[in-house]
Amino acid sequence: MSLDTLERADFVWLTALFEARTGIRLGFEKHTMVVGRLLPRVRARKLESLGEYLQLLRAPHEEAERELLVDQLTTHETSFFREPKHFEVLDAWARSVKPSGAPLRIWSAACSSGEEAATIAMVLEQVAPPGGYEVVGTDVAPEVVRRAQRCVYPLERTTGLSQALLQRFCLRGEGEARGTFCLKDSLAKRLSFRVGNLLEPQPALGQFDVVFLRNVLIYFDDERRRRIVANVLERLKPGGLLLPGHAEVVRDCSDALEPLGPAAFRFVPAASRAA
Ligand SMILES: C[S@@+](CC[C@H](N)C(=O)[O-])C[C@H]1O[C@@H](n2cnc3c(N)ncnc32)[C@H](O)[C@@H]1O
Repeated sequence: MSLDTLERADFVWLTALFEARTGIRLGFEKHTMVVGRLLPRVRARKLESLGEYLQLLRAPHEEAERELLVDQLTTHETSFFREPKHFEVLDAWARSVKPSGAPLRIWSAACSSGEEAATIAMVLEQVAPPGGYEVVGTDVAPEVVRRAQRCVYPLERTTGLSQALLQRFCLRGEGEARGTFCLKDSLAKRLSFRVGNLLEPQPALGQFDVVFLRNVLIYFDDERRRRIVANVLERLKPGGLLLPGHAEVVRDCSDALEPLGPAAFRFVPAASRAA
């Protein structure tokens, strides 16, 4: 086998492993993308070919490599203030919500490397809700979750952040950290990140006031997309907000979603409507 092709049978085995862990199906038309994303691992493991890499992936003790496969094959594109309208919605909602004394809880579902969760925290710091707030990020890819936990980003990622936000919430790396910036502790302490698969119910996360579910549903077939939205709504408080990506469809998943504007819904389950 050459360095940069995968036999169809190997492709099927590999993508079945990936699908079992993420729920994302990759057809053979994605062959070039899959190969391109795996070659860095072939080199990192000092192997001669993708065939050798597949052999290694099959070894029982290579669970860490199988986890990395999830990171390699998922798409982690994200940025600070991506799809900025949602942050205006969050700001307006947080300023209008009646204080209950409890902290506001926001879920960045499919958080990637954490910029979305950090943006949410920057908005809420400025609102300063009386009961405080916390932001929980989850993602199926373990390495990207570890990156999110560090709250350190390459300097080119400052796009989207004004000078005022950078000064208030970020620190430029020095010495070995040159070329990066990090969040100040005052912001980072509001964030927590953990591994989680949206296709599974996640009761341990508790209930949220707002869920950001952006740029992830597009990777799933209709049945799985509906399952994910059902799982997410289980975690949303009645009256809470669901903010899917602007390219995503959720209206057909539940009749308890009341549109508030583009890609913004209030969750009004039947039980709370009757009350
Ligand atoms: C394109 S990023 C979106 C990041 C962020 N929400 C945004 O809009 O900027 C999609 C993320 O979904 C994650 N993902 C894919 N399948 C998932 C699953 N089954 N459960 C949780 N996260 C998943 C990927 O690992 C990836 O980090």
